[in-house]
Amino acid sequence: SINILQDSHGRAHAYLRISLTERCNLRCTYCMPANGVKLSPKSHLMTYEEIYDIAKTFVKHGVTKIRLTGGEPLIRKDIPVILEKLATLPIELSITSNAVIIDKFIDVLKTNGIKKLNISLDSLNESKFKHITRRHEFKKVYDNILLLVKEGFTVKVNAVLIKGFNDNEIIDFINFTKNLPISVRFIEFMPFDGNKWDMSKMVSYAKVMNYVNRAFSKDRIERLQDAPNDTSKNYKIKGYEGSFAIISSVTNPFCDSCNRLRLTANGQLKNCLFSSGESDLLSALRLGKSIEPIIQKAVKAKLKVRGGMDTLEKLQEPKLHSKNRSMITIGG
Ligand code: GTP
Ligand code: 5AD
Ligand code: SF4
Repeated sequence: SINILQDSHGRAHAYLRISLTERCNLRCTYCMPANGVKLSPKSHLMTYEEIYDIAKTFVKHGVTKIRLTGGEPLIRKDIPVILEKLATLPIELSITSNAVIIDKFIDVLKTNGIKKLNISLDSLNESKFKHITRRHEFKKVYDNILLLVKEGFTVKVNAVLIKGFNDNEIIDFINFTKNLPISVRFIEFMPFDGNKWDMSKMVSYAKVMNYVNRAFSKDRIERLQDAPNDTSKNYKIKGYEGSFAIISSVTNPFCDSCNRLRLTANGQLKNCLFSSGESDLLSALRLGKSIEPIIQKAVKAKLKVRGGMDTLEKLQEPKLHSKNRSMITIGG
């Protein structure tokens, strides 16, 4: 039988990222425009039954990993039910969260078999955290990361680097992994609608490695094996409990091995993080139509590199980003 999740460049898609909400309890400047985003009316958002129905179809066609994103996925009132429903599927289920309220969900996470969590934290400095998130929640996030580790979860910390803002914390973040078995992943700042990106604010993979090479001697820096379809290039400092990595979607895209599809909170399928087109699965589902042909067509239309922004020149063309959404309504 044909695999409807295989694209025209030979890539199979086994990883679905589902955004549960367009709202967030933080206001990160690189993720949402200062004046916010226009929210979908509630009736246009997927209910937990619809999320489950759509997820089931993807699993039937080969998805083995689902990651819940947002906005902040944990602010959905029905998050326990969503987790319960998805936990019945034969998949690895994970969450990307800002961790502000995650201490209230430890039991729910454990009951539903969630073992790995990716947590966004862009600064280890309280006042910088407040500046980037526009909220005073540093201590909660920091304490919750320690709590998650203590409770036995596998934790990755995502830090989006912005030049002149937190690139001076790269080594502090690596030293944070000295006695803590987490992975800190430095992310190259990417362009989305309304986030005022420009190339000069981005800290590249090569730049990060310059900082690392200056701070640690060569024999202490170990390149680790990356997981299949990994977003990151992984390293560790010998003797440290944790590790660090770089997610280099700008200077070193991993599109060749891309296995991801995205479902937005209002039920639109995006075949790439940078795709401008979307396919309306939710409306089809509500009309009682099969969503499979729509999925197949969307996957076939997936472009080879970054939704068509295959060169750095194209990435710097603001008109191209404004065809995409703001990050807060994609989910990363
Ligand atoms: P793992 O399952 O632990 O590998 O997580 P992940 O890296 O897939 O997901 P996470 O939500 O932690 O995202 C980390 C960063 O990688 C974010 O900046 C995402 O925007 C980015 N990212 C995730 N998936 C993709 C992708 O398919 N393409 C690109 N270009 N970036 C991605
Ligand atoms: N560039 C890179 N990463 C981003 N994220 C949000 N916005 C951007 C951006 N413009 C990250 C968040 C979160 C992950 C899902 O995506 O920090 O950890
Ligand atoms: Fe996949 Fe698009 Fe990300 Fe490339 S930019 S890895 S094609 S989602």
